Amino acid sequence: MTLTTSMPKLHHFDDGLWVKTQSHDYPIVITKRSCDDGAPKITADYLAPFIKGQQVLIVSNETVAPLYLAELEQILATKFAVATCILKDGEQYKNQDSINQIYDVLMDHHFNRDVTLVALGGGVVGDMTGFAAASFMRGVDFIQIPTTLLSQVDSSVGGKTGINHPKGKNMIGAFWQPQLVLADMATLSTLPPRELSAGLAEVIKYALIMDADFLTWLEANLPAMMALDLEVLGEAVKRCCQYKADIVVNDERESGIRAILNFGHTFGHVIETHEGYGSWLHGEAVAAGMVQAAKLSQKLGWLSLEDVARVERVLTLANLPIVPPPISVDTALDLMGHDKKVKHGQIRLILLKSLGEAVVTQEFDNELLLQVLSEHAYLAS
Ligand code: NAD
Ligand code: GLY
Repeated sequence: MTLTTSMPKLHHFDDGLWVKTQSHDYPIVITKRSCDDGAPKITADYLAPFIKGQQVLIVSNETVAPLYLAELEQILATKFAVATCILKDGEQYKNQDSINQIYDVLMDHHFNRDVTLVALGGGVVGDMTGFAAASFMRGVDFIQIPTTLLSQVDSSVGGKTGINHPKGKNMIGAFWQPQLVLADMATLSTLPPRELSAGLAEVIKYALIMDADFLTWLEANLPAMMALDLEVLGEAVKRCCQYKADIVVNDERESGIRAILNFGHTFGHVIETHEGYGSWLHGEAVAAGMVQAAKLSQKLGWLSLEDVARVERVLTLANLPIVPPPISVDTALDLMGHDKKVKHGQIRLILLKSLGEAVVTQEFDNELLLQVLSEHAYLAS
């Protein structure tokens, strides 16, 4: 794609952040389009270069649609034939039934290979829309319009799409890159505070795995982000998307470095699965999981106790949990064994060599892992 110079800027956050992948390159546009700040508005002409045919299907859910669908539909309808598919809200609906609903609408409208799907929502809508796009007619285009902080900094970028299987989260999916990621900071103003905090867990994750200076920046700026200062949120989203774009360009299919984005996720996965999806938000489980990973890193001599305390403090500042629920060590190990990141029967973990530097490793003393897992397991039967 060669749009870099021809694309008008929507806001000062939007200064040409591109994700380079094997299939195509695409921009991440970060804006405050809903704010009356004099910035150019999004129009159908602006979106047109990313939509190759005349047909558009917007996929959203019952929570996000009443907030943002009408405006988007109106914009797109000036140039395209627009249909909508509104799914039920929740991780429990991230399944094949919802994908079939998307296919049904596509079929009912006789949409063809030139259709572009547009995901309007958080990571659940984005992952499902991407997977429907990857599989409908062996692959059609899609655009991500992420409306949660988590989806703006993580799930909308990099092309991981998919659904859950009754026996495992995100077990069915495909790598399928969007044509455009359009993140509007103003949508965060309606996000429930708990969801904002869950997104902050992923923001903090980037600092812990990639950039100690960003950690210092966050320590100073988290209060403004939590008070919904859209300028500061926009700066943070831009930095996170740049980190993710840098990783994806080097390892699109996660054969190496991309795995560091899963920092805290193996421990978090145990919490999510044990507690049942929906009880702990993904970001909350990742937060407590990152503390466990930091503690193991400390036991290996890589982090200091003060480093671990700093991790706990920054997560607490974002209103995130730092203590996992009681889970027996056996159960935790069993659940870790089902994690996609297990290689050849060995648990592979993302740990910290220092704050701002992550490593993927299978080489750690299992006894130390057991110590970390048993720290809060005392109440579990
Ligand atoms: P989500 O999509 O469930 O959104 C959280 C809640 O906020 C939902 O109730 C949603 O309807 C609501 N919501 C969304 N935008 C809103 C807005 N602007 N105002 C008010 N409410 C709004 O959850 P999420 O945290 O965005 O995403 C989690 C999902 O992302 C998980 O399924 C996870 O597996 C996936 N994920 C994927 C990747 C990837 O690389 N593909 C990375 C991380 C997470
Ligand atoms: N969220 C992890 C990844 O995109 O690889």
